[in-house]
Amino acid sequence: MAGDNKTPLRVLITGAAGQIAYSLIPLIAKGEVFGQNQEIILHLLDIQPMLGVLNGVNMEISDCAFPLLRNVVPTASVEEAFKDIDYAFLVGAMPRREGMERKDLLKANVKIFKEQGGALDKYAKKDVRVLVVGNPANTNALICSKFAPSIPKENITAMTRLDQNRGMAQIADHIKTRVQDVRKLVIWGNHSNTQFPDTRFVEVSKDGNWVAVANVQHDAKWLKESLIPIVQKRGAEVIAARKLSSAMSAAQAAADHMKDWFHGTKKDEWVSMAVVSKGEYGVPEGLVFSFPVTVANKQWKIVPDLALDEFAREKIKITTTELEEERTEASAATAE
Ligand code: NAD
Ligand code: LMR
Repeated sequence: MAGDNKTPLRVLITGAAGQIAYSLIPLIAKGEVFGQNQEIILHLLDIQPMLGVLNGVNMEISDCAFPLLRNVVPTASVEEAFKDIDYAFLVGAMPRREGMERKDLLKANVKIFKEQGGALDKYAKKDVRVLVVGNPANTNALICSKFAPSIPKENITAMTRLDQNRGMAQIADHIKTRVQDVRKLVIWGNHSNTQFPDTRFVEVSKDGNWVAVANVQHDAKWLKESLIPIVQKRGAEVIAARKLSSAMSAAQAAADHMKDWFHGTKKDEWVSMAVVSKGEYGVPEGLVFSFPVTVANKQWKIVPDLALDEFAREKIKITTTELEEERTEASAATAE
């Protein structure tokens, strides 16, 4: 029965009057992230000038009559928004426009994540789990964590699930199968155009067995070379077409990320999450870097011992260098 769990989870969405939140709220309120038996109290934060719009969103939430929704807290108060939260989707930030790179947002957005790191530290539950969506997502998560020293660094992650979903959909389309019959596409590095979508481990379900993609797809060049720029540039392509950045697909990816973190990944499945590095695969400690992970008991674990060839090493180096540069720039911007 819907809502059997009597202790509701407090779930924060920032940027709650914005376009991603508009698609994300119903996914959470319908139980598609935390399950059909889990009641929710939604904390919705936006800035003061957006409170009128947020009020309209709240009216619509009421009109949806979601059975799992115990209460809604729409607010412009950071303290009220972060108070006692169990989960946070940090979406609120400026989106890029046509012709910009995501890192062009760094100076403006990183300050938001400094403030919200401080708020997590002060007001949230100590085992809060956080997904940063606002761009540049990896570096915003790093800054957020820096200013939330009492929250375990493992609990603050950034989103590359949209890149994974994009890549899996492209592969499924290319080899004419269903997206649920594709697994183990890995996104390494930054949610930017330096990311490395790595198809070397991709498996496809065929006649009830999972087989290496090379067994069903002989166009190795497409997999190794064409898919990479398609995924790297997809966000910009959506902006060029919509004149707005992706929102429906971003909300779905955020829901997928948190659902897997909450419930765990399926047997033999990997998902990509940007998480704090402890030096795995030669990635400098402290960077928030997208790795393949498995999840059990609400803890992620980086998939160990994957072989890296020359090509992969080179690609990982490029995205690592960009993240190191972003870290330096973000540290300077938040020291001001
Ligand atoms: P949007 O402009 O529609 O909404 C952003 C909302 O955030 C606005 O309502 C704004 O008022 C609010 N906001 C600004 N500062 C805030 C603050 N300090 N506290 C709370 N709210 C604040 O933008 P959107 O399309 O929803 O995108 C939001 C962010 O997500 C952008 O940075 C975008 O680039 C990013 N994004 C990331 C991914 C990803 O894969 N990681 C995908 C899509 C979009
Ligand atoms: C995306 O990947 O669609 C988002 O990060 C938005 C953007 O700026 O590309």
